[in-house]
Amino acid sequence: MTVPEPGSIAVARSAVEGLRGVLRDSGRSVEFQSADIRVSVAPGRVNLLGGHTDYNEGFVLPVAVDRFVSCALYPGDTGILEFHSLDLGDSFQLDLASLDELRDDPDRFDELAGGCRAMWRRYVAGVILEMDEAGIPVVSGIAAITGNIPIGSGLSSSAALEVSVYLACGKGAGATVEAALLCQRAENRWAGVPCGIMDQYTSLLAEAGKAIFLDCRHLTCRHVPLPEGCAITVINSGIQRELADGEYRRRRLEIESALGILRKAVGPIAALRDLPAGDLAEVEDLLPQPLLKRVEHVVGAIERVEKGAVSLTLGERERFGELMVECHRSLAERYEVSIEELDLIVESAISVDGVYGARLTGAGFGGCCVVFHREGCREELESAVAGAYRARSWKEPVFHHLSAAPGARVLNAEDMSGSGITEL
Ligand code: GLA
Repeated sequence: MTVPEPGSIAVARSAVEGLRGVLRDSGRSVEFQSADIRVSVAPGRVNLLGGHTDYNEGFVLPVAVDRFVSCALYPGDTGILEFHSLDLGDSFQLDLASLDELRDDPDRFDELAGGCRAMWRRYVAGVILEMDEAGIPVVSGIAAITGNIPIGSGLSSSAALEVSVYLACGKGAGATVEAALLCQRAENRWAGVPCGIMDQYTSLLAEAGKAIFLDCRHLTCRHVPLPEGCAITVINSGIQRELADGEYRRRRLEIESALGILRKAVGPIAALRDLPAGDLAEVEDLLPQPLLKRVEHVVGAIERVEKGAVSLTLGERERFGELMVECHRSLAERYEVSIEELDLIVESAISVDGVYGARLTGAGFGGCCVVFHREGCREELESAVAGAYRARSWKEPVFHHLSAAPGARVLNAEDMSGSGITEL
C-alpha cells in the first residue's frame, strides 16, 4: 500500500476542519467520525518537458507536485450536493434529481456558474454533470474544498479540483484513465477551456518520486524515477495567466489551420504527432507564418520529450536540463507563449552552478517556471533569480521547493488514523 504524502494529509485535515465549520455555522451540528466522511486529495502538476504537445497527441513528461486540493464530503440522503469553497468563501448547491435540466439549459448553467469568480463552480458542476452522464452514481451531501496550489499559476489547480471532486463524490470512483478523460471533458465542456489530457492524467496517475512519460495518443505511460540527488523548484513569476485561455485557444486554432493545409498537401495526418521532425523541411514552403513556427515547435518538442525520457532514465541530468532549456526557447520563439519575466527566470536560473535546466511550465503567458537542479543549491538559485528581479525593480517572485508526489486518492480509515483527522 502506498503511504499518503504528508502534505496531502495536512490539506485533507483542513478540508475536514472546514467541513465541520460549515456544518456548525449552518446550525447543523453533526458529530461525525472519520468513517462517516469521504475525503479525497489530488495533486497539482508541473511539466518538465513537452509544452503544448498533449493536444497534438504527442508526449509530455510531467510530475505531480506535493501541493494538493482536498474535498471532504459528509454524505447525506437529501439528493442535494452542496459545495463550499473554503478558500474562495463561495458555495452552491446541485439538485441531483435535476441534473438533466441543468445539462440541457445553458442559461441555467450560466446562472449557477456565471462570472469569473465562480469559475471554480464550473469545474465542480462540470465534473458532476459528466459523472451523471457517464452513469457513475453521485453521492449527495455537503462538501468542503480547500487546497494549497496557487491558482492561475500553471500548476493545474483546476485539474486537481476536478479530480478531488470526482473521487470524493463518485460512488466507486477510482484513479483511472477514464477518470482523467471525464475530468478533461468537464473542463473542455463546462469551463470552456480546451485543455489537453496531461493535467488530469498526471493528477490521477502519478507515482511518488517519478515523472510520467505520457503518450497522449494512446493514453499509456511509463513512470520514470527522478535521479537521486535532484530537486525541483517552481518559481512563480507573479504574473497571473489572465490572457492564457484566449491565447491557448488561439494556438489550438492555429494548429488546426496548419493541419488543414498539411492534410491537403501530404495526405492524412491525424495530429502533428504524425509529422516526423525529419519531414519538416518538406512542408516548410506550404505553411505561412506564424503557422510554420508553431508546427516547428510542436514537432521539435515531441521529439525532445522522447529524448528526455531516455536521458532521465539513464540519469543524464545535464542532458535533460539542456533539453528543458531548448524547450523553453522554442516555446518563447516559435510558440510565442513566454513573457519577459519567465525568460528572465530561466536565464538567471541556468546561470547558477548546480542548475541543470529550467523552462516555463503550463500554458505560458505568466505563471511559473520549473527548475531542475542538484539538491543543495536552493539558496544560490533563489538569490540569482530574486536578484535579477530586483535589478528590474520587479516584485520578488515566489519559490516553491517541490517533491514528486503520488497521484490522487481517497483517504481510508488507516490513512486517517494517526493523521490527526480522526481526532478533529
Ligand atoms: C495547459 C493545459 C495542458 C497543456 C499545457 C501546455 O496546462 O491544461 O493540457 O496543453 O497547457 O503544455
